[in-house]
Amino acid sequence: MKTIAIVSTAGGTGRTTLTAALAVLLARRGRQMVALDFDPQNLLGAHLGLDSLAPAGVTQALLDETGAWHAHTWRNAEGVLFVPYGAVSLAQCARCDARLAAEPQWLANALAQLDLPHDGAVVIDTARYPSQQADQAVRSADLVLCVTPPEPAACATLIAHLHALRRGCANLRIIVNRLNPARDMQRDALAMLGAALGDGLPLAQRIHLDAALPESFARGTWLFDDAPHSQASHDLQGLANWLDTWLAEGLAERFANSRPANSRRTGTPR
Ligand SMILES: Nc1ncnc2c1ncn2[C@@H]1O[C@H](COP(=O)(O)OP(=O)(O)O)[C@@H](O)[C@H]1O
Ligand SMILES: [Mg+2]
Repeated sequence: MKTIAIVSTAGGTGRTTLTAALAVLLARRGRQMVALDFDPQNLLGAHLGLDSLAPAGVTQALLDETGAWHAHTWRNAEGVLFVPYGAVSLAQCARCDARLAAEPQWLANALAQLDLPHDGAVVIDTARYPSQQADQAVRSADLVLCVTPPEPAACATLIAHLHALRRGCANLRIIVNRLNPARDMQRDALAMLGAALGDGLPLAQRIHLDAALPESFARGTWLFDDAPHSQASHDLQGLANWLDTWLAEGLAERFANSRPANSRRTGTPR
């Protein structure tokens, strides 16, 4: 089981949209997926099929020492298991943050209790970085997808936090979302980001701006079903394919490393 954290240093970058879409696209590729909402905005459930904001979720486990978030797990029509964050007042929000600050391994311990098949994955939607939620998700993750629009302010905040993010998880990739190649300013912002990243972090994945994406969400459908040949659908499928391959490679590596030594035929058979 691998953990993928979706983070960003700016608001409204598409974290929740991507978390839900990737969970569904990977489930359609046959993987057992868990989507975890680790953002007090509590919107992931709405993307995955709930009619209203879920009243309960991870917060029950955070606010009550004995509470278990497994009790608040849902399964959507595509077979994705998901756990909402739950509705929180300002005071409860502060208590959740205080607990996470006091127990830096809280999320890692909670994830360790999940009983998913080896080829399954957990994808975590997070509060904007820096936050307790995003920090714990980054440190618990095997892979961090850092979402940014190609806008100067968003890219500048990402560059400012890049070192801390990579310290939390060395396996980090940048996802440029809402790309509109017609805008010169976006090209400049991408050039600035590329220069700051250097050769170590290629800007491999891009998702184009598509006004139909929020409309699909409002209708309770998926863009990749409504408009499968659109550029943004193609981009999302491409990202899901890349993740699916990454998950399969991790599994192959794991089996190779766990094979008994005497099954490795390195010499010439006699
Ligand atoms: N590629 C895109 N093209 C157009 N709109 C997008 C795209 N990605 C996200 N959005 C829209 O941007 C808004 C914010 O997305 P959301 O996933 O809620 O961001 P976050 O979780 O980072 O705050 C939503 O209305 C969403 O539909
Ligand atoms: Mg969100």
